[in-house]
Amino acid sequence: MYVEVTADVLEMNPFTAIGKDGFLITAGSPENFNIMTASWGSMGVLWGRNIVTLYVKASRYTHKFLEESEGFTCSFLEPGMKDTLQWCGQHSGRENDKIAATGLVPEYILSPTGAERITFKQASLVLSCTKVSVMQMEKSHLVVPELQNRYKDGDYHTVYIGFIDKVLANQ
Ligand SMILES: Cc1cc2nc3c(=O)[nH]c(=O)nc-3n(C[C@H](O)[C@H](O)[C@H](O)COP(=O)(O)O)c2cc1C
Repeated sequence: MYVEVTADVLEMNPFTAIGKDGFLITAGSPENFNIMTASWGSMGVLWGRNIVTLYVKASRYTHKFLEESEGFTCSFLEPGMKDTLQWCGQHSGRENDKIAATGLVPEYILSPTGAERITFKQASLVLSCTKVSVMQMEKSHLVVPELQNRYKDGDYHTVYIGFIDKVLANQ
């Protein structure tokens, strides 16, 4: 059962929760959505709101869903689900049914405007977000050559900023 909590009570360390453990980004509608694993991202405060920033390459199938959706969820899974995170980070929803393959059980969260966002029963913590800013990274934005060299294939990240509407803890 999910309980809404305030961001102030979160004890998570973003460097480990995002960078070491990773999480699932989900965007789309209950009828048509996609999931991918992310371990790049940030959490903080901008425009007077608690925000999450996602960095998603244009080549990801999830990119299309993020472009078309009003929002997204970040689902931090229960401990011991590393295999699921790996699987969703090594397979594309273009060719695979990630729900069937992983056994993730969808749950639905209402957005402030009544849209349904998707998370999973197996998530211990969910951030439900409204997409408020989309920025396309390009070579001129990268100051040091070391970073430019990471994008020789031209597959730059798109930066999605989301206002956190709800923080849900699974209890
Ligand atoms: C641990 C891990 C972390 C990842 N983090 C990111 C990320 O932050 N941004 C990104 O664009 N891709 C990231 N990926 C790669 C995508 O998850 C991967 O390409 C995935 O298959 C995309 O699925 P899709 O095509 O269904 O969207 C990560 C992969 C793994 C295994």
